[in-house]
Amino acid sequence: MSTISLPGGTWTLGDLTVTRFGYGAMQLAGPGVMGPPADPDGALAVLREAVDLGITHIDTAAVYGPRVTNQLIREALHPYPESLHIATKVGATRDENGGWPPARRPADLRRAVHDNLETLGLDVLDLVNLRLGDARGPQPGSLAEPFETLAELQRQGLIRHLGVSNATHEQVTEARTIAPIVCVQNMYNLAHRHDDELIDELADEGIAYVPFFPLGGFSPLQSSALSAVAARLGATPMSVALAWLLRRSPNILLIAGTSSVTHLRENVAGAGLALSDDDLAELDKIGR
Ligand SMILES: NC(=O)c1ccc[n+]([C@@H]2O[C@H](COP(=O)([O-])OP(=O)(O)OC[C@H]3O[C@@H](n4cnc5c(N)ncnc54)[C@H](OP(=O)(O)O)[C@@H]3O)[C@@H](O)[C@H]2O)c1
Repeated sequence: MSTISLPGGTWTLGDLTVTRFGYGAMQLAGPGVMGPPADPDGALAVLREAVDLGITHIDTAAVYGPRVTNQLIREALHPYPESLHIATKVGATRDENGGWPPARRPADLRRAVHDNLETLGLDVLDLVNLRLGDARGPQPGSLAEPFETLAELQRQGLIRHLGVSNATHEQVTEARTIAPIVCVQNMYNLAHRHDDELIDELADEGIAYVPFFPLGGFSPLQSSALSAVAARLGATPMSVALAWLLRRSPNILLIAGTSSVTHLRENVAGAGLALSDDDLAELDKIGR
């Protein structure tokens, strides 16, 4: 077990306790999230290090690779420690160009849930997010049919908890009329703050908000204000961005991605950075 302590404490997703500092596995697949990684042993080492560091929340999807990150997780960590909870997503597929077309018909969703169960080597999935919208972001429209399908799979005992991803505020509200949700996974970081109001509402309701692209995703976060605060604190901009998210709201869970053990350790250490009120005020201006 590592001597670096994990910042942020824990959060409860339904009946599952997870560390607020989690890990997002998408970056472990090959370029464009297609195919195997260039360094499979390195990918397995990152996953094992995540668990050694005490992380108990890993985010993945059968469409990463496809199946690559799930298979890596299984190879590195199965049989899973009891404390480890794996969240996955359904609602999109991959095309021959590496695109992410929607796949939200009931048959698509049933197939995707079984694909995740099989590739992860599980009988029940801890948390399944219905991924909505498209690559441009959330799109309006009812989620009733796909979300009812997942609620049915939950009643059948294949899924413990449900969430929604890439969702509009209205879709979050609609989902909750169909079945309880334990999280919303949307794009959010220091520079993209469309969901500020939603985060506060979910916090009041005890629902987690799990930002994807917490470090900017494929285009790393860049901002002179972020660099200035980082320089003042003798920290990296990545550390400041993660520490800010942990401070932003207690219901925010981190799933920052990396394919590097060194970056993973840096992120764990960096997210524990103490930010003063002045730092927060300066950072707050970036995305507002
Ligand atoms: N629901 C959705 O639609 C959706 C969409 C996208 C992502 N996700 C989930 O969100 C998770 C996080 O997103 P993400 O991984 O795409 O983006 P991210 O966490 O914002 O950024 C990952 C990028 O930052 C780099 N990085 C990480 N730590 C670093 C460090 N200390 N120094 C320098 N570079 C660093 C990584 O490169 P290295 O590999 O070199 O460290 C990688 O390129 C994914 O793993 C996935 O599970 C969900």
